[in-house]
Amino acid sequence: MKLLFYAAKVYDKKSFGLVLERFPGVEIEYIDHELEPRTAPIAKGFDAVCAFVSANVGAETLDILKECGVKAVLMRCAGFNNVDVARAKELGIVVKRVPAYSPESVAELAMALAMAVNRRLYKAYNKVRENDYTLKGLRGVLFYGKTAGIVGTGKIGAAMARICRGFGMRVIAYDVYQNPALADFVEYVSLDELLAQSDLISLHCPLMDSTYHMINLESIKKMKDGVILVNTSRGALVDTDELIQGIRMNKFLGVGLDVYEEETGNVYEDRSDEIMEHSVTARLLSFPNVMITSHQGFYTMEALAAIAEITLQNMVDAMEGKETPNDVK
Ligand code: NAI
Repeated sequence: MKLLFYAAKVYDKKSFGLVLERFPGVEIEYIDHELEPRTAPIAKGFDAVCAFVSANVGAETLDILKECGVKAVLMRCAGFNNVDVARAKELGIVVKRVPAYSPESVAELAMALAMAVNRRLYKAYNKVRENDYTLKGLRGVLFYGKTAGIVGTGKIGAAMARICRGFGMRVIAYDVYQNPALADFVEYVSLDELLAQSDLISLHCPLMDSTYHMINLESIKKMKDGVILVNTSRGALVDTDELIQGIRMNKFLGVGLDVYEEETGNVYEDRSDEIMEHSVTARLLSFPNVMITSHQGFYTMEALAAIAEITLQNMVDAMEGKETPNDVK
């Protein structure tokens, strides 16, 4: 079974290398290139391809993969908004993903971002390095006793809800389905109520037509002044231009983003020597109360090990024609 592994990083090779011996039938070739129409022809002769969040697995890519004889697309992530699932189905290409590998890894980063923007840790770190021990610009607020609003209470949202409870926060949530595991401490409310009552809003729902730009000027206006907004889910849940308007209206105590709309060309690339022609991200970073990380929620040793193990099992299952809950349909 031959697997072409796109956009392979050193840590991918390490984590997949560690579990590969448990999958003796699988042979992996790693390449640096991202999966997109231009690079899809490289997959000729491979049974499956492995791709990540920034890949373009649209119809054009899938058509080429089909011509190359590829039978499965294995996403080494939970989200699959970059895959044209309907086209894959028409072509008979199996798509599998890793629905859960370490929800706490993402939830802990969400809380880290919330804390970092609240207590301005990025500023404090730089100030002390510069021998500046003043407290100017560092004042935060207490989380204890405040209200956390969790949008989407699936695996990651539930983990975040538990962390917030641990901080002594009242936890409210909005989801299209209620998670019974949270019944003892989470109160479900409407999205409008969540926006109006929360001191910390953390987004954990998937990107779909119904959630695209769910945070926009209208929803921002419904939030409390001094709210903290954290997005570790998908960038396009937030309308960035309107978020910037909200920041300029002084709506936010802080904004922490592990994902943002413009991230596709940036994710895991070193662009430090480039001059950006236009960059909304740069505008966002000009604000003192915004902190951006580059899609690192999943990046813990535990999550990487689980991703490797589950992806290779998905490969075996796909080749054996086994349907599993990891199928994307
Ligand atoms: P999940 O599928 O367990 O939970 C998603 C929840 O969102 C479900 O409870 C669902 O009912 C809810 N939902 C669906 N539509 C909604 C709507 N319109 N409004 C509110 N809630 C809605 O997914 P999981 O594992 O918790 O992941 C959540 C998201 O986190 C993923 O979709 C992915 O985009 C993102 N993610 C980010 C990572 C990172 O490194 N930053 C890593 C892994 C996932």
